[in-house]
Amino acid sequence: MKIAKTITELKTCLAEIGKDKTIGFVPTMGYLHDGHLSLINEARSQNDVTVVSIFVNPTQFAPGEDLDAYPRDFDRDSRLAEAAGTDLLFFPDPIEIYPAGASTFVAVEGAITRKLCGQSRPTHFKGVTTVVNILFNLILPTRAYLGQKDAQQVAVIKKMVRDLHLPVQIIVCPIVRDVDGLALSSRNVFLNLEERRQALILSQSLTAAKALYRAGEGRVESLKDQIVSHISTMPLAIIDYVDILDFETLADIETITAPALAAVAVRFGNTRLIDNIILD
Ligand code: PAJ
Repeated sequence: MKIAKTITELKTCLAEIGKDKTIGFVPTMGYLHDGHLSLINEARSQNDVTVVSIFVNPTQFAPGEDLDAYPRDFDRDSRLAEAAGTDLLFFPDPIEIYPAGASTFVAVEGAITRKLCGQSRPTHFKGVTTVVNILFNLILPTRAYLGQKDAQQVAVIKKMVRDLHLPVQIIVCPIVRDVDGLALSSRNVFLNLEERRQALILSQSLTAAKALYRAGEGRVESLKDQIVSHISTMPLAIIDYVDILDFETLADIETITAPALAAVAVRFGNTRLIDNIILD
């Protein structure tokens, strides 16, 4: 596995790979877990070359969020990435990605970035689309691999790719969970034992909502109420949002007639967790 820290090194490595190879790209912020590794596996199976980036992107964190505290362990990450079959690992410093004075952003406008996580993190997706666009420009991947864990991120990036005619195919991979159901996240490391135990309510409440939906309940308000009351049984859970939206467009719906996304964000102590399930 090659490691590129600078854009010059990245360009040299990509030139060695050559233009005729398909490139599968997995953007990450590191502290890799099996969710990230599932994306790398998928990229490997569909492309000649697999490129992974590790970059804790400052522009997607608002002041007061956990940019400085975000977990980092490059040595462990590079071992895991190599073992998973990564060919090229891009690990830039912020100054490489955002040269001094950089002031250009890519933002997907509209309700799609204002609801769900966009409500409590109004500048978040602008940072995500900006960095993903920069990474796509640098790496020119054939396909990029994203996790359904961040369902809104998937919808927003797909929209950016479509709106800007970016020459990349977006491949979405399923949520990887711990055996007890907790969706894997780099931030899970911040949970203490009791918070982690109570955090299981996220996946449990979503699975219960899906069962209810399958049993015939299609009214969004009623399903949302069920999820909220389920999560509220956990004293440490502070709900940020519970919502059910059209799966493709994230538009509001009253009744489920097409695949819908049930998504939740809940704080346990200082840690904000998200999870979702597709109701189809
Ligand atoms: P990060 O949180 O590191 O996630 C990198 C990728 O791994 C994302 O596509 C995310 O959806 C996926 N992922 C995380 N947990 C997963 C799980 N349990 N199962 C399946 N996939 C999972 O998302 C980001 O970084 C950043 O916003 C980024 C896109 C890199 C831009 O900075």
